[in-house]
Amino acid sequence: MRIDPHSYTDDRHAHVTSLAWEARVDFATSTLHATATLRLDAPSAGPLDLDTRGLDVSAVTDDQGRAVDFVMHPAEAILGSRLALTLGEGTCAVTVAYRTAADASALQWLDPAQTAGAVHPYLFSQCQAIHARSVVPLQDTPQRRITFTAALTVPAALRGLMAAAFEGRDERGDAAVERWTMPQPIAPYLFAFAVGQLEARELGARSRVWAEPSVVDGAAWEFAEVDGMLAAGESLFGPYAWDRFDILVMPPSFPYGGMENPRLTFVTPTLLAGDRSQVRVIAHELAHAWSGNLVTNAHAGHFWLNEGWTRYAELRMVEVLEGPDTAALVAAICRKDLDETLARLIDEGHGGLTRLRTHLEGIDPDEAFSVVPYDKGQLFLRAIEDAVGRERFDAFAKAYLDTFRFGAVTTDGFLAFTERALPGILARVDAPRWVDGEGLPPDAPTTRAARLDAVIAMGDALPPAGTALSATEWNLWLERLPRPQTADYCAALDERFGFTRSGNMEVKVAWLRLALASGYGPVLPEVERVLGAVGRMKYLVPLYSALLARPETRDLARATFARRSAGYHPIARAVVRGRLDRSPA
Ligand code: BES
Ligand code: ZN
Repeated sequence: MRIDPHSYTDDRHAHVTSLAWEARVDFATSTLHATATLRLDAPSAGPLDLDTRGLDVSAVTDDQGRAVDFVMHPAEAILGSRLALTLGEGTCAVTVAYRTAADASALQWLDPAQTAGAVHPYLFSQCQAIHARSVVPLQDTPQRRITFTAALTVPAALRGLMAAAFEGRDERGDAAVERWTMPQPIAPYLFAFAVGQLEARELGARSRVWAEPSVVDGAAWEFAEVDGMLAAGESLFGPYAWDRFDILVMPPSFPYGGMENPRLTFVTPTLLAGDRSQVRVIAHELAHAWSGNLVTNAHAGHFWLNEGWTRYAELRMVEVLEGPDTAALVAAICRKDLDETLARLIDEGHGGLTRLRTHLEGIDPDEAFSVVPYDKGQLFLRAIEDAVGRERFDAFAKAYLDTFRFGAVTTDGFLAFTERALPGILARVDAPRWVDGEGLPPDAPTTRAARLDAVIAMGDALPPAGTALSATEWNLWLERLPRPQTADYCAALDERFGFTRSGNMEVKVAWLRLALASGYGPVLPEVERVLGAVGRMKYLVPLYSALLARPETRDLARATFARRSAGYHPIARAVVRGRLDRSPA
């Protein structure tokens, strides 16, 4: 039987428990030439189904040197192709020789012009949610963790990095072979690597930051506080299980703010605001070291267990690091975004996606992605915290992580554990309403704080010149502003506070959205520039949506996409294209 709506993994088959991966990175053809040796939990015979997407498999052999029969089934739109192996008696491991497709959904191959240095090409992977299968044939479900070793052959001028422990590098002429090992079992979506011109700066005893040479010093300054975050994380959730917490600053086309690849978090360069105002993204990715990488969701229908817990942890860390007032501001921004998203999803007929437990059969997890699992999930956990008190909640969180360590949890698994650990609490918070109900329960926790009240008290009037707010405060104030505003108001606002030129992307994009929703034309050149320079979906999707929302800017949205989409990551391209396709002509 299949155990995950987004994987061909069959529970009657052997478990793949480890991977030995060898790959040569070929920038000329945008392909990886690879072999993957998959070790099984026990000697096996008969069928073994693997997930693949676009892989060109040339041979499969087993640990006894026998050729293994295989059938590559036709691709299905969301899942990819089932690679059906038939194992001979007593098979302990299989080796698949293959090439990746030039358009592998996990990979982005960048021309030198798309990097900061503009001299060398760059390659990176992004496997969450179900893209690992476009890089390695695997049981690509969080319910099948693997350890792995890897050897990557890269051009000698470049540096490879993996979310794993580095073992060494040997140069052979114009190529270098770099080796890694990952001793802790990971869910396949956490398999990650990058190749480019990369340098490191030390941040603390357990962490360093990697980036292109021209970016790395700024990055080291921006993320200097990472040691304090590790300490905050450990005090909340127990010892850090992954030895190191390194950060890789990606090229601008990276489609996410951050990705919690174990030992090596990937982040967008838009975090380098020069004011340390975006470090909560680091706090979030670090929190995944516990919620997610240690205890993950069994499949995408339970994604809230991953991101909801992590948003909860992120806010707790912000509270420790920056105080309750800042945490409250961040929570208020999240709440605003959640309310808007819930309204939009219900309006678009996707009420089902406003539940915590979702039914995603036949739905691409990238398409279903929204802040709902993050922020409704976080509020559900807060409702439990509010009901039992912080002390009992923290003990509960630690026990939960301990119980499901290196595992994957379903919503029912979470509920059963919670009922055992905190008897009666589920009834008290009306858990079924949270988990399977649409929208937000009317008694969902709300946030109060002095600085939050002060921002709200500013109202909608043009703030006096000289008003000095933090990036978080401006962001919240801009998001709360009713729209449309008049052109005069927009012009005065931008003249006073220079939002169009802001170095902080959160503030800038909040402003650009307001301006677009107000039909304020002078921002259009900057909107076009951002859409060409930044691939982070959190910015692309709202900006394209704002352009599409008004008939007079729809053509600009289509023309900009036509010109720029080749530079977007495959995932971002697909998601933005979906928005364009669904918008009226
Ligand atoms: N794991 C996510 C990114 C992700 C989610 C990638 C789903 C692919 C599929 C990561 O932890 C995340 O949530 N990043 C956020 C930042 C955070 C502060 C909310 C982002 O990218 O904006
Ligand atoms: Zn996350």
